[in-house]
Amino acid sequence: MAMIIDGKRISQEIKDELKEKVTQLKAEGKKVSLAVILVGDNPASQTYVKNKKRACEYVGIESLSYELPGETTQEELLELVGKLNADPAVGGILVQLPLPKQIDEDAVIRAIAPEKDVDGFHPMSVGALSIGQPGFVSCTPAGIIQLLKRSQIEMDGKECVIVGRSNIVGKPMALLMLRENATVTVTHSHTKDLREVCKRADILIVAIGRAKMVDASYVKEGAVVIDVGMDRDENGKLCGDVDFASVEPVASAITPVPGGVGPMTIAMLMYNTVYGVPRE
Ligand code: GUN
Repeated sequence: MAMIIDGKRISQEIKDELKEKVTQLKAEGKKVSLAVILVGDNPASQTYVKNKKRACEYVGIESLSYELPGETTQEELLELVGKLNADPAVGGILVQLPLPKQIDEDAVIRAIAPEKDVDGFHPMSVGALSIGQPGFVSCTPAGIIQLLKRSQIEMDGKECVIVGRSNIVGKPMALLMLRENATVTVTHSHTKDLREVCKRADILIVAIGRAKMVDASYVKEGAVVIDVGMDRDENGKLCGDVDFASVEPVASAITPVPGGVGPMTIAMLMYNTVYGVPRE
């Protein structure tokens, strides 16, 4: 029987801590604000943005909302980002991805001032993380570190295997686990004997976007299993990259989907917005 790592509870705990911090900042005359930019009418993006704005409201962050039509040009978006960069009343800037195809996402991410890059996607933020310097950290991997720490799961010296090498999760996750002194292996679609490599893990982090791909045959007895997936099963029901029913009996701890990693992403976005760019 595995311990179920409750991301809903832990994310709530973080948001409550942040709410207190914002009250304290307000008493000192400091305001916290986040500009949220949504381009087009992608329904998933609309839901994410709505949830981010709702979390801002809960924590006491002023959210400045920019909803632009799907035909918005790159120049128009870059102009808005430039304006928000220069505005001292704007603390953080978030451009919801994906962007419509006429817009170069990398160019937009590069245009965000690194000190307002609360998503941690700017090459400066990623570069700082890779050489162990302070900077914003991508929210989902930062949230996973919080899940582990707040569940008293030791990372130091542990064998950590990450499945997936995306810029948003896999790669920054590897760097954060290294910072915690884990021994890290990053696997991907070309990895040979994936099952055997995963079976070495004390901590297995799965972010591949394939419904229930990882079953008990990938998991060492007693491993901690973190599921970053947000997929649909054959009946259209929300599920993760991990087959929970198969893995839970062999793992020592596991995150459910929903209610595991998902809620942590927004909590860490709030954290980045409240605390600003780390200085050390
Ligand atoms: N689209 C999917 N996830 C994210 C995220 O974490 N941040 C942004 N800006 N867009 C996303």
